[in-house]
Amino acid sequence: MKVTVIGSGIMGSGIAQVCAMEKLSVSIFDINEEQIEKALVTMKTSLGRFEKKGRLSESIETIMDRINISVSLKEAVQGSSLVIEAAVEDLKVKQNIFRELDGLTSDDVVLGTNTSQVSITSIASVVKNPGRVIGIHFFNPAPMMNLIEIIRGLETTDETLQKVQEFSKMVNKETVVCKKDRNGFLTSRLILAFRAEAIRMLEEGVGTVEDIDKACRLGFNHPMGPFELNDFNGLDLGYKAFKSMEEVYGERFKVPQLLENMVNANRLGRKTGKGWYDYE
Ligand code: NAI
Repeated sequence: MKVTVIGSGIMGSGIAQVCAMEKLSVSIFDINEEQIEKALVTMKTSLGRFEKKGRLSESIETIMDRINISVSLKEAVQGSSLVIEAAVEDLKVKQNIFRELDGLTSDDVVLGTNTSQVSITSIASVVKNPGRVIGIHFFNPAPMMNLIEIIRGLETTDETLQKVQEFSKMVNKETVVCKKDRNGFLTSRLILAFRAEAIRMLEEGVGTVEDIDKACRLGFNHPMGPFELNDFNGLDLGYKAFKSMEEVYGERFKVPQLLENMVNANRLGRKTGKGWYDYE
């Protein structure tokens, strides 16, 4: 089976690596060629870590040989039965990609998107057969995280869903199905609700950042507390996600003022060296 991954950023490179580790051929396409070069380095570094832990059954070279870099989308999709788009989180960008994919792929090719929030139905609306469009949501870092959230758009067919479940088995991931295309799906909605409450507790002075995180790690066995996770993913991305949820769910997902202030102060988390914690 061959898979095409569109976008070679954090998620695209991780997804391509997962496919190659599970012996699938992958071609990866990005409009930014420099980014693809960076992605290759990222994948090799990550594979090196797997190798050190004794978790690779073959050489890094053999795995990397399954990954092809493509400079054109047309070339990238040739021979693929599944496309996973992991470009930027923007409906217009995604629709343009899917419009192009519609003309470049036959009707039996599944068109997936790794979006964590954009409506699958809206992306699918630009394709002649929206039945073959579906959400295939990996988690960061994709090679480490065991879950794929599969999201049905309004017109996604059972056959498409089944094909993605088969693919998920091939790449050794567990799945959950979000049966309806509601903003935030299952996972983003839950994590944002949880994070909002954590930030509100901090605003109210009920607890400290450190104690709220510790409570979640030790009390609920979460690997990271809500503030640590927010720093890891970027406060700016979290802010955007809240804004989009607020439009649909109103007061329940109102952006906490403190989060807005943090973003305005450029405290975006690990990537700027400071967020809820200081990393400098
Ligand atoms: P990123 O910013 O690291 O990478 C996006 C890549 O897409 C860039 O390399 C960019 O050059 C490329 N790109 C932009 N327009 C393109 C186009 N028209 N054709 C081909 N490539 C294009 O973004 P990241 O974090 O990898 O996110 C990708 C998608 O995955 C987004 O939809 C995001 O919401 C979703 N996602 C992100 C997670 C995260 O933790 N970062 C977790 C789960 C989903």
